[in-house]
Amino acid sequence: MTDSPATIDLDQADLDLIFGHSMLSTEDWSTAQLTSLGRLARTLADFDRRRIRTSLLPFELAWAVFFDQSTRTKSAWAGAAARLGMQPVIVDGSSTQISHGETAVETGAMLGMNAHAMGIRHDLILGEGNTFIRDVKTGIDRYLAATGDSRKVPVVNLQCDVDHPTQTMADLLWLEDNLGDLSERNITVSWAYSPSYAKPLSVPQGLITLLTRFGANVTLAHPPGYRLTTETMVAAEANAGGGGSFRVVESMDDAFIDADVVYPKSWGAYDLMVERVDANARGDTAELAAIEARALERNAQFTDWICDERRMGLTRDGDALYMHCLPADIGAEVSTGVMEHHTVNVARQANWKMYVVMALLAGAKVPNLAEAMAALA
Ligand code: CP
Repeated sequence: MTDSPATIDLDQADLDLIFGHSMLSTEDWSTAQLTSLGRLARTLADFDRRRIRTSLLPFELAWAVFFDQSTRTKSAWAGAAARLGMQPVIVDGSSTQISHGETAVETGAMLGMNAHAMGIRHDLILGEGNTFIRDVKTGIDRYLAATGDSRKVPVVNLQCDVDHPTQTMADLLWLEDNLGDLSERNITVSWAYSPSYAKPLSVPQGLITLLTRFGANVTLAHPPGYRLTTETMVAAEANAGGGGSFRVVESMDDAFIDADVVYPKSWGAYDLMVERVDANARGDTAELAAIEARALERNAQFTDWICDERRMGLTRDGDALYMHCLPADIGAEVSTGVMEHHTVNVARQANWKMYVVMALLAGAKVPNLAEAMAALA
């Protein structure tokens, strides 16, 4: 908690850029919109640390549905909703009627009738999650239009197959806390070994597309066979044209040399992630389990892809900022010693997500937000 008076660096014209907007992917947003979102998140964080209440959306329902496990993002959603005076409700996707054939559009319409905001995690199957989230938004928008309902019901991607925007925006804010401007900074996003499960591609994809837009020199490192989707690679190349740079290497050591920041985490082998699509569409759980076993066998060929003390020694002054979206496989993705050294840092990185979600909900829903925030301060 801090005693000095709150300063509000919010411009209504900037906030108007995000009013009424859903967050389905950072690629859908302009850099000006993302900058406005970040500034609002910082202001909300400052208010929270000063114990200034921000009940901007009382009596509203913040519904979230998760088709995959989560600790941090569920907590961020609930924490954000509570701080805005909303009622958070978090539902396990497997408990809905979607498995009985109800479509995403139909489900969206049903949930949109009652909700004032909708968060969705659907990240396990390539080609499905982001489409599902967009379909839910279509269903909600159709319902609101058909009933002449003027409510703003933003849909927030809480991780899909393509992107994890609340994570990468939290990462951006944490990076700016540590580095200021990202121009000329070397940021390494590296594959790392995991024995636990074939993780989604969305975090590295979200990072390479977002950080290149903010001027960073981004290096993506992975073993052969662990490529990301063509669309996100093309977007990262294009975004780097604005001042940053983007390169791909197949050596974790090369990627760590002179890095200011390292973000080593695992993701699934691309061909096996594609194989899962058909098996999932058929509902073939035995084949899905067999693919998962093959994915872990594939990962096991690269157990030396670990972020350890030797590799951290290759980075700028041997002291790069270590980042992870968590949970990390300690002893596989990262050594115990490196993680112990950075435990508080990764918790602070994670904490930004709550303020990003607050900014997405308040920014999308509260008209004249600058004035409302000034009144609260
Ligand atoms: N990084 C992240 O999204 O964490 P959870 O899976 O715990 O939500």
